[in-house]
Amino acid sequence: MRALVTGGAGFIGSNLVKRLGNRGYHVTVIDNLKNSLPEQAKKALNGDLCDVFGVEDIRDIRSIKKYFKDVDFVFHLAANADVPSSVSDPEYDFTTNVIGTKNVLECVLEFGCKRVLFSSSAAVYGGVKETVDENAILAPISPYGASKACGEMMAQAYKNAYGLPVSIVRIFNSYGPHQRHYVMVDLFKKIVEAKGGMIEVLGNPDIVRCYCFVSDTIKAFEEIVLCPSAEGEVFNIAGSKNTKISELVDILSASVSRYFKAPLEAKYTGVSWKGDLNFLSGNIEKIKRVVGWEPSVDLKTGVDMLVDDLYSRIDCK
Ligand SMILES: NC(=O)c1ccc[n+]([C@@H]2O[C@H](COP(=O)([O-])OP(=O)(O)OC[C@H]3O[C@@H](n4cnc5c(N)ncnc54)[C@H](O)[C@@H]3O)[C@@H](O)[C@H]2O)c1
Repeated sequence: MRALVTGGAGFIGSNLVKRLGNRGYHVTVIDNLKNSLPEQAKKALNGDLCDVFGVEDIRDIRSIKKYFKDVDFVFHLAANADVPSSVSDPEYDFTTNVIGTKNVLECVLEFGCKRVLFSSSAAVYGGVKETVDENAILAPISPYGASKACGEMMAQAYKNAYGLPVSIVRIFNSYGPHQRHYVMVDLFKKIVEAKGGMIEVLGNPDIVRCYCFVSDTIKAFEEIVLCPSAEGEVFNIAGSKNTKISELVDILSASVSRYFKAPLEAKYTGVSWKGDLNFLSGNIEKIKRVVGWEPSVDLKTGVDMLVDDLYSRIDCK
């Protein structure tokens, strides 16, 4: 089997590439290395990440086309994946997440493949107050969320107009090794700097998320592309449990204390970055029913694996 992973030098992409390689896939990656972890970029450039690697930008259709020949599965992950930076630079999200996605779909149309998986985001739902399923109205509140909603519409249109075999996943807070930013990495860095003292946490202690460990996320990707009845469908990928940020801080502190002194106290600022949501939780009944997937890694075990990885690559002295 031959797989192409766009954004394969990023956080989720590099974990996916490793899994596919271990399972015997011939893997090609294209990534412009804009937001890749330096270690993964180095591996990719040395030829240690995958079978074929192209430093390419999905905004340029002429340069990426050749990589789509004779591919069975396309995992389209390349994107700006950061909400705050989409607010300051919406142009990048539009050109990469919308036009770049259209370019990827065009290439698949030309060469064909068994399935294209488009990685969308929970950000398409916008501010929600309850656990959302896939039928909820899309109401993004950031340029990032809007660009992902446009990408989804484009993928659906290519399915309806040209019969392209697409599946769409809306990811809710994936975390784990190779992660470069987001709340757990930020908290880890604060804990390191606090040297056992107090840490300041953005927002309030009751902010809720449903974290999903990256090995579960990428297992869902693979199971979806191999599942005939998942073609043309949209799936939430989320953890099975809602967690308050105060619980996450406790779990992270306990995990970090295996290496050095954890903070004695966390102070919550009450305000967070513009566009941050108080509540985000995804209903995963559809993917359980259609694909037979459900998350298997509990938060404490997953956080330990993330902390081990961060400790090995971040200067903690
Ligand atoms: N991590 C999460 O919790 C999460 C949540 C929702 C959705 N997603 C989606 O999953 C996908 C992967 O996310 P991630 O967390 O691994 O992000 P990431 O930033 O680590 O990876 C994205 C990769 O895409 C590459 N890239 C960016 N612009 C590009 C371009 N124009 N051409 C080619 N490559 C480009 C980057 O260099 C990076 O390596 C993204 O599409 C993201 O929107 C992730």
